[in-house]
Amino acid sequence: FAWVFTTADVSTVGVVDFDRELAVPPLAQSRLEADGTRVFQLDMRSGQREFEPGRVTPTWGFNGDHLGPTLRARRGEPVRVVVRNGLPETSSVHWHGMHLPPVMDGGPHQPVAAGATWTPQWQVDQPAATLWYHPHPHGETESHVRRGLAGMFILDDDESDTLALPRTYGVDDLPVMVQDVRFRNGAFDGSHRIFRDIGFLGDRILVNGTLSPYREVGDELIRLRLLNASTARIYNFGFADDREFALIGTDGGLLERPADLDRVQLSPGERAEIVVRMRPGERVALRGYPLAAGLDFFTQRFSGGDDSFDILQLRAAETLRPTPQLPATLVAQQTPDGSASARERTFDLRFAQINGQPMDMNRIDATITRGTTETWVVRNADGMPHNFHIHDVQFRVLSVDGSAPPAALRGPKDTVYIGPNSTVRLAVRFDGPADPDTPYMFHCHLLWHEDRGMMGQFVVV
Ligand code: C2O
Ligand code: CU
Repeated sequence: FAWVFTTADVSTVGVVDFDRELAVPPLAQSRLEADGTRVFQLDMRSGQREFEPGRVTPTWGFNGDHLGPTLRARRGEPVRVVVRNGLPETSSVHWHGMHLPPVMDGGPHQPVAAGATWTPQWQVDQPAATLWYHPHPHGETESHVRRGLAGMFILDDDESDTLALPRTYGVDDLPVMVQDVRFRNGAFDGSHRIFRDIGFLGDRILVNGTLSPYREVGDELIRLRLLNASTARIYNFGFADDREFALIGTDGGLLERPADLDRVQLSPGERAEIVVRMRPGERVALRGYPLAAGLDFFTQRFSGGDDSFDILQLRAAETLRPTPQLPATLVAQQTPDGSASARERTFDLRFAQINGQPMDMNRIDATITRGTTETWVVRNADGMPHNFHIHDVQFRVLSVDGSAPPAALRGPKDTVYIGPNSTVRLAVRFDGPADPDTPYMFHCHLLWHEDRGMMGQFVVV
């Protein structure tokens, strides 16, 4: 038994047995209507799950007890989702990273009452990417996500289909939704918040709802779609032998060209698509590594050893199917470069406010002309970490503290980490449909912070 208990904190050091097979969320069933609309159904319900034998945990899920199926659609396709709320309270479903009309956004202005049905519909109009969906009710986002309401939303397009990339879902193309949890008397315990309101931190890691997971793979190249679906924990992902992997995509889609890295950091809500090369018969673990100095409280809950912790083990077959080399070029850059910026706005983040004000459902914080590109300067004026998510758009990171962004921030992004006392400059093009009556959101995606008021609203007119 590889778990070792420390006396200081009845948590574990970060070494696990990898004794359970990784669950892969099923692809959601859909039906095609005569006009080509792809229709999905998502039922939000409460249930229970035995994450470990003999210990029953109450959970929430979509179309099942915990988490949700992977939705998949193509660029140009009209989609409709029939969302039924079978939970005992009001919730909502937000399509994180999706470019769509604000009335379909699923944020706090589109609540779905207990027992009600909501049927958003839009046309997919953005490149291939790994997006996700989760509840976004005003003030209760953290508790709803933490109980298990989250799923992936994969978009495809013709351009990415021509690239030689691993693409067989569940075989050489794996969703990896990472969440930290804490159990108390069998139930998820959300009460553990670390000092200065950073938010909930768990002491165990679930990947796609599996504790201590391994996955057998039979291909040389394995694509992992990493999603930080945790409410506050920031991960610095890497492999146990420090091998390099290719980063091929960020939040909103593929990079211009793969970047060779040995670590990729994701704050809550961010995604990264990486491709790792396997050798026959080997076992290698994806792990979480310490963050920059000063953020060590994010790893200390797994204290012991080197402060890194296991996430998922890949087990390669003795004979691997050969795969072609990754293409040198993936896609043309799709995000704006800021040179045509119409105006600059600044946002100061300090718990639990943005620009000195908490979220107000009746206040519009920015009115933006449709089709313009703006420069948003977002400053973390706090000693604690924050991040920044903007609905409807994929932006480009122009700089971090005045310097060119690292490779992992050079693709389309909808969520960006902002370290304590750090500043990012973003180029954001707003081409959502004009609708002066329905706001989109921007907010910190550490969900406790969002719920406490670190959120603002913009309209596109
Ligand atoms: Cu992932 Cu406003 O949210
Ligand atoms: Cu925050």
